[in-house]
Amino acid sequence: MEVGSRDRRVARHRWYGRAVNTRVVRRYENHLPPGDDHPYRTGAWRPNLVEYDCDDLDVIEGRIPDDLRGTYLRNTENPLLPAIGRYHPFDGDGMLHSITFDGGRARYRNRMVQTTGLAAELEANAPLWAGIIEAPAKSIGLDGWGARGRMKDASSTDVIVHAGKALTSFYQCGELYAHDPRSLEAHGAEPWSKGFGGGAGVSAHPKLDVNANELLVFGYGTKAPYFTLGTLDANGALIREVPVPLPGPRLPHDMAFTEHYAIVGDFPLFWDPALLAQGVHRPRFYKDTPTRFGVVPRAGGETVWFDAAPTYVLHFINAYEDGTTIIVDGYFQEDPTPKPDPADGPWAGLRKMVDVAAMRARPHRWRLDLATGRCTEEKLFDLVSEFPSIDARVGGRRYRTAFAMTAKPGWFLFDGMARFDLETGAQQTFTWADGVYGSEGPVAPRSDRESDGYIVTFVSDTNADTSECQIFSADHIDAGPIARVRLPERLCAGTHACWAPIA
Ligand SMILES: [Fe+2]
Repeated sequence: MEVGSRDRRVARHRWYGRAVNTRVVRRYENHLPPGDDHPYRTGAWRPNLVEYDCDDLDVIEGRIPDDLRGTYLRNTENPLLPAIGRYHPFDGDGMLHSITFDGGRARYRNRMVQTTGLAAELEANAPLWAGIIEAPAKSIGLDGWGARGRMKDASSTDVIVHAGKALTSFYQCGELYAHDPRSLEAHGAEPWSKGFGGGAGVSAHPKLDVNANELLVFGYGTKAPYFTLGTLDANGALIREVPVPLPGPRLPHDMAFTEHYAIVGDFPLFWDPALLAQGVHRPRFYKDTPTRFGVVPRAGGETVWFDAAPTYVLHFINAYEDGTTIIVDGYFQEDPTPKPDPADGPWAGLRKMVDVAAMRARPHRWRLDLATGRCTEEKLFDLVSEFPSIDARVGGRRYRTAFAMTAKPGWFLFDGMARFDLETGAQQTFTWADGVYGSEGPVAPRSDRESDGYIVTFVSDTNADTSECQIFSADHIDAGPIARVRLPERLCAGTHACWAPIA
């Protein structure tokens, strides 16, 4: 079959009266159903089919700061083939987008993540693996990847840059796929990653400790010990792999770390064990079962466990040590499994599964006292939000400022941003116009002061069917963007992003 065509011609488009150098690198065929009405394959989630190289992007408004130097990378779920049965937005194939700023100019690249699973499906001209809300038995492809097995590793959830590589990862575990962070040239899967954790693979949310120049990774699955922690050194080599036994299969999505410890969550939201024994993977929230946090010495040693109020933490904000106390900040969900609204019709179940606002997640602090074994906890801010970011240089260290996204109620779409000052309790917010959505906004630092710099985000306007990159002052996100840069087309929505400075 024709799996895509390569077009090396240089296209000159005109936007706002200026010529922009845009090269179409590859076009993919649209295999999705004609007249598709899936809410997470249309509108803001309509996948992209073209890979571009764009240089010297057009600045629509403002000016790109001279001291903004580095690359903003975002991974997106960008399905190229129809689903076997029901499609969940997190099943989509990875498409990586990057914008690099240097000398007041910007260039953009986007590429599909060339996973083994995508190559097999394009070759077959058909989907081979069922997604997360279908039975694994429906998969045609044998084995597959993922915490539950028989899924496609779409490598579409997360991206982090370590040891000069942009590593994409999948929330249900798989291989880590390496790319050049600026050109997005594919360098294949990290050889060690498939066998990590006894074959569980690596989860999304590897955690970068820039001070130690280490990357902490984890994997989870249905076989004991159910959770494995790993450490990559400054060269990206796996130097440590330790089991962190859990009572059974769990669904962790993130972890936290401090200078000396990794923090592992054992949350009471997991596959119903009785159904799991019958091959049915149905997550259930056990509202009377405590949350447990494991404090794992990074250098090796006994894990210390703490009990806390039942919840599910999708994302941690940061953690640090304060004497014998471990401070852990993350998003406490009041309702991890919101009930479907019948008014949403055939998509009711799916819509609530990814309705971040309905989970009523708020910034929360747990204090784990290693001297007494006690955990105390408190809400930090009232604002329902999620997808937090910090200045990477204070990861695992005492810090002051956090950023996060707000979500459009009923949708997995970011309608605004928030800035939290953990010292004063001050809060700033910014909201885009109706139908306009941003992407996770990491800090692009410009000085030694924490969070002094910029917030970079991709913004899609579903009314105009266009996308742009917006740059905000990290001190004043509420003042709106200080620069807007045109992108070649409307980008598909997605999940995680990161900032990689130019050294
Ligand atoms: Fe995530």
